[in-house]
Amino acid sequence: MKNRTLALLLALLVPCISATAQLTTGGLTSRHYPPLLSWINTSELDGAAQSAYRICWYKAGKLVWDSGKVLSEESVLVPYGGPEMESGTLYTWKVRTWDGNGRASKWSGNASYMTGMLDPAGWKAQWIEPAEQSEVSQILHKDFHVSGQVAAATLYITAHGLYEATLNGRKVGDGLLTPGWTSYDNRIQYQTYDVTDMLKKGGNSLGVKLGEGWYNGRLALREYKQFYRHHGMAAFVQLEVRFKDGSTQTICSDGSWTSSESEIRSSSIYDGETIDARFKDDSLTPVVVKDYGTAELIPSISEPVRVQCILPAKKLIVTPKGEKVIDFGQNISGFEIIEYQGREGQEIVVTHAEELDENGNFYTTNMRSAKVTGRYICSGGQDSFRPTFTWYGFRYIKVEGMDEIDLDDFRAAAISSDNDVAGRFSCNDELVNRLQSNIVWSQIDNFVDVPTDCPQRDERLGWTGDAQIFFRTATFNRDVQDFFYKWILDLACETEMHGGRVPDICPDLPGVVGYGRTGWADAITIIPWQHYMAYGDKTILEKAWPAMKAWVDVMQGECSEDGIWDKGWHYGDWLFYSVDNDCEGKSAVTYKPYIQQCFYANSAQIAARAAKVLGLESEAAHYSQVAEKAKSDFCRAFLTPGGYPVSATQTAYALALEFEMVPEEMRPVLASRLAADVRRHGHLTTGFLGTPYLCNALTGYGYTDLAYGLLQYEGLPGWLYQVKMGATTIWERWDSMHPDRTIPDNGMNSFNHYSHGAIGDWLYREAAGIKETSPAFRTFEVAPHPGGRLTQVSASEKTPYGTIEVAWTAEGGSFHLDVTVPVGTEACVRMPSGAVENVASGHHSFTDIMTDR
Ligand code: BGC
Repeated sequence: MKNRTLALLLALLVPCISATAQLTTGGLTSRHYPPLLSWINTSELDGAAQSAYRICWYKAGKLVWDSGKVLSEESVLVPYGGPEMESGTLYTWKVRTWDGNGRASKWSGNASYMTGMLDPAGWKAQWIEPAEQSEVSQILHKDFHVSGQVAAATLYITAHGLYEATLNGRKVGDGLLTPGWTSYDNRIQYQTYDVTDMLKKGGNSLGVKLGEGWYNGRLALREYKQFYRHHGMAAFVQLEVRFKDGSTQTICSDGSWTSSESEIRSSSIYDGETIDARFKDDSLTPVVVKDYGTAELIPSISEPVRVQCILPAKKLIVTPKGEKVIDFGQNISGFEIIEYQGREGQEIVVTHAEELDENGNFYTTNMRSAKVTGRYICSGGQDSFRPTFTWYGFRYIKVEGMDEIDLDDFRAAAISSDNDVAGRFSCNDELVNRLQSNIVWSQIDNFVDVPTDCPQRDERLGWTGDAQIFFRTATFNRDVQDFFYKWILDLACETEMHGGRVPDICPDLPGVVGYGRTGWADAITIIPWQHYMAYGDKTILEKAWPAMKAWVDVMQGECSEDGIWDKGWHYGDWLFYSVDNDCEGKSAVTYKPYIQQCFYANSAQIAARAAKVLGLESEAAHYSQVAEKAKSDFCRAFLTPGGYPVSATQTAYALALEFEMVPEEMRPVLASRLAADVRRHGHLTTGFLGTPYLCNALTGYGYTDLAYGLLQYEGLPGWLYQVKMGATTIWERWDSMHPDRTIPDNGMNSFNHYSHGAIGDWLYREAAGIKETSPAFRTFEVAPHPGGRLTQVSASEKTPYGTIEVAWTAEGGSFHLDVTVPVGTEACVRMPSGAVENVASGHHSFTDIMTDR
């Protein structure tokens, strides 16, 4: 440890007196129904706090609820208290707050809140299907007449498959891949759009284009297989028009609709899309009405998938094989956009790849059976091509069918669920900055309506383990509150359906993978708990509780007489470091029942905590006993009396430490053995389950320099190795590409897999030092850990109360820290010297004098 002399200087920045009111109120959000309302207070003055609020709620500009001045410090998830709302209605609301001295803020700007179908009896539409089901995308049509002055028009719509709706030729909404992927047999999202401005007086035309999507297409390495109850593309559409005179008109999908073929000749998530721009179908065929009911319909929960950015084509490469390849410079999820005038009937074929092989040729082996091919047939006029019902994971495209390639004709659109940026991390080490960028890109690329393992090959599935491993990192980078709320409700529902056995993937595809795998299944406990800690919304615990509890009960019920949960087949510490010819015993195999017992105890511990939050005292006591027993049984079965675990791997130590599996006095002993193992190898050896905890365990027990050693290790296996190899996203394997650029063809190798990116949590939590100590960061610690080659770090995190900012420098013998604490929160600042200071909202600076730095 470095010898430091402490001089802690608390320097409150001089307040800006020009502020007329202490608080400014903005960042309004509303979630659920009835809504829970949140806003963010900011202030130029230190120590500012909210003492009261007033909310006004409007319908069509008319006040329908005024909360009056409510004395309360709360600004997060405040319950709506107005009258019952109406379906399909756009409400607006605003808030103002008072500070501790009774000074009122100005009114915030208006936020909006749109209701869905609140009363299921309001559904009048029928499910309709095109007469013919084929790979060709069909358009369902309805022409209708509107007379009178429209006050409001609301479109509710969903599909079996994917839909794109147009009203009078204009696309409705800017979401992609709607209605999204859920546990379709139980929950199908519908979207609600305010289309008031899209209607016109007189003739109107509604069109709904359908694609196979997740509902109907092939998934999970399979040829086409029916996973869901009602196979076939279908639509459910209800347009409600309200006129100024109070009358209404409803246009519903029913037997009066017609269908025709579209220019999309085929579309498949794995295989790509074929578009024939010449195609015109004037024949209208009657649709078939189906009695599928509305029981599964739920309003959309998360942000839609949207285009995040458009990348220009960076470079044209002619490979040694003569392939014409365009490099977009970044591995993305998305699609190419081609603006081109070709000959009528000219076919352009675009294939997608993440990497070039060691010879510089186009590499698609790792796509496995996914054909990832776009086929575009030119009309002869100016065409604009892009797929509608699929996306690809790629950095490079190979273009065939064009004699000359003009890079200006090509762009790439990166898509993702549109989650707001929450955090930023940067430091003085450019390689670590690129690592952070790669983590964020892998998050963006894989959060396409569900959290997927990878966006390119024939999987793109919601693997529960991967999501669980990466969740904390994800919350730091983006606001994933609604994104995961939706997914956890699917997971909870599917877990309950399987008697507490959590599926390996969610949405589940029956018969594809398994249930109840350690570390994967624990997504049902770990994610709701960490979600609650990040966002403070205890309704996720309420909703997930039956499934959380059921999963812990399954594990407990399967324990052997000695209290050890050793049943079932498990993935274990997936993709851990393993060497061929392991004569030196370096392969880091962690005994699977050891891992199982750790996750069993941890899930029981979480169940106990969740029960406490939910006020379920006796269940809290019960699960806390289950956890304690699981831990003592663990110690008896898996630790020698001298404290050596049966598997002396980094993963084994990290899990035992982070899940507090051993008595307190033994933890430093295990930590020193972990440290010794890291020194012995000189690098990490962990797989999916150990990686998220490894550096945290080292830092937690005083081995920060070793954690930095791992972070900044540039060889194999390590995070910066891939950065130095030119990665722009996180690889699935530590050795997805060898130093000579050969790519191992092992049947499973993605260059865009976020799991190992779980080090991102350590960057925010330990390097920058931002840690929540109560839900929603209402209280938090700032405990930065300088070390390694880092001399400067700056990070920010947008919490439900506002943005925390941390910046530190460790130079010239002093450690300087600037912290911004949001209004309504308190921070405990822990300097590297050990000095501790509690601070209220505002900007604060601290300095440690370090004699040997
Ligand atoms: C996926 C993973 C997943 C795993 C299960 C793979 O095919 O890509 O990331 O967790 O299977 O072990």
